[in-house]
Amino acid sequence: MNELKTSEAPSLMTDETFRLLRDFIYEHSGIYFSDAKKTQLENRLTLRLKATNLGDFDKYYYLLKYDPQADRELRCLFDSVTTNETSFFRSPPQIQSFQEKALPEIMARREEQGEKILRLWSAGCSTGDEPYTMGIVTKELLQERLAQWDVKIWGSDISEKALKSARAATYSEYTLRSVPPEIKKKYFIAERSQYRVVDEIRTLVELQCLNFNDSKRVRLMRGFDIIFCRNVLIYFDDAAKKRFVSQLYDNLNPGGYLFIGHSESLHNISRAFKLVHFPGALGYKKE
Ligand SMILES: C[S@@+](CC[C@H](N)C(=O)[O-])C[C@H]1O[C@@H](n2cnc3c(N)ncnc32)[C@H](O)[C@@H]1O
Repeated sequence: MNELKTSEAPSLMTDETFRLLRDFIYEHSGIYFSDAKKTQLENRLTLRLKATNLGDFDKYYYLLKYDPQADRELRCLFDSVTTNETSFFRSPPQIQSFQEKALPEIMARREEQGEKILRLWSAGCSTGDEPYTMGIVTKELLQERLAQWDVKIWGSDISEKALKSARAATYSEYTLRSVPPEIKKKYFIAERSQYRVVDEIRTLVELQCLNFNDSKRVRLMRGFDIIFCRNVLIYFDDAAKKRFVSQLYDNLNPGGYLFIGHSESLHNISRAFKLVHFPGALGYKKE
């Protein structure tokens, strides 16, 4: 009976079930679906309903909430409710500010301190385009001196599916659309119609599954010089944004920078940072 219902007439989500699922997702990830996004959530979860062979969204909610094996489904849920859009060298003025201002400033300070250590983090790295971009830019700045530095770039995301692509490090022409041709030639190997990131850059990047909601684990992410958390906060409500941004502040070294999406702002979210105006981009500095 349920199977018939699933395959022939997909169940509609009642307002009550929408609220239950919305609150569940919010509690577990900070991702907030406003009332206006009910259809979006319904569309995204319809595939999970089919995959789990459950007849309606109520049953799906009870599976998530009470089934002892809900952990596996929770990971699929995160894959379904996240938006993983990204690309290499996304928002070029920000990348330029990172390359020409923030990174050289941090490197000069590190050299003065006699510690050639650099810790960067792409928080919400999706399929890896962002942390690999950070790696390419760092290599471009340091050139042969890279070998004298201890550089580690962390890429983290809540979506296992996105991280699987990040680990494969193989991309379409489209996601490389903002990459300058000489950079593309240097750091990517063409494989049929795809492009693979060269090992020299891949090995700079450490990928891991990390949910911002897991404050215990996020607190362990210490000592970063620059954090990119771009186009991630938009999916949270203000309370979650405040919580996560305050964590990111703690994750930075003094003098470190946070970059958020170019259309995002920390107005009414945090006063802890100093706003720094770079050409065409903003940086948030921990003084
Ligand atoms: C639109 S992508 C942005 C990717 C990249 N930062 C960029 O700007 O190109 C947003 C990413 O944030 C991740 N995300 C959403 N909620 C998260 C959470 N609670 N913890 C960790 N990552 C999360 C999503 O899985 C998604 O890959």
